[in-house]
Amino acid sequence: MSAPDTTGKPDHWNADRYEANVRFVSDLGMPVVELLAPKPGERILDLGCGDGPLTRVLAEAGAEVVGVDASPDMIAAAKAMGLDAHVVDGHDLAAWAAEQAPFDAVFSNAALHWMTRPADVFAGVAKALKPGGRFVAEQGGHGNVAAVAVALQAAMEKRGASYDLRSIWSFPTPEEQRARLVDAGFDVRSMELIPRPTPVPAGLAGWLDTFAPPILAALPEGERAAARADAVRLCAPSLQDLAGNWSVDYVRLRFSAVLGAPA
Ligand code: BEZ
Repeated sequence: MSAPDTTGKPDHWNADRYEANVRFVSDLGMPVVELLAPKPGERILDLGCGDGPLTRVLAEAGAEVVGVDASPDMIAAAKAMGLDAHVVDGHDLAAWAAEQAPFDAVFSNAALHWMTRPADVFAGVAKALKPGGRFVAEQGGHGNVAAVAVALQAAMEKRGASYDLRSIWSFPTPEEQRARLVDAGFDVRSMELIPRPTPVPAGLAGWLDTFAPPILAALPEGERAAARADAVRLCAPSLQDLAGNWSVDYVRLRFSAVLGAPA
């Protein structure tokens, strides 16, 4: 669930901050676990496992689960839970999978949107799976966190900076994702775009502290807190209710695909 480091910048993930601000991300992951329907004895790869809460759910279902994530801090937290977890950037999965395959299934929750070269990632997933293996995932889809993204852009531009959303996050349409999966050799069984406004108990400031560092990093350190405050203020009329509760405009893309037998 954490970002691969495609930028050469230091790991911005912090397992304690994740727990305090955005634990709802894994708490809301059960529908994709149910879509996977893990079976006892299956070998499953959890791609972007973060600190491992859903890796553990899969293991408790009797599967033999391996988690990978680009963040050393998150992998350390997953290992502390007794999970088999490894630091691997999803873009480099093919090289890792060459040694570790085959898996019966690849599972991913709230991680693929951090991987901005999906063709490389899907080639790695295909390499990891046995023919007929399942790839079941949920990620941000087209329109995800749009209000927050626009507010962040306004806050950056006010300070003479900007960011390219597509270089930070990948929020594909169902059509785009289906085409990529087919190109990588998958037979797509389901593909659903699901608007899901999501309460964020730690508020938008906590959400931004956890997820916006790669964007705010383009500003001098002394300007980041003010930019974050601007984004919060701009979003308040649309994302905060009259009692002060925040929800973020999440849109999920949930899919299930099966790897075809090689020609
Ligand atoms: C998501 O889970 O959709 C998400 C998380 C952090 C930043 C952007 C999107």
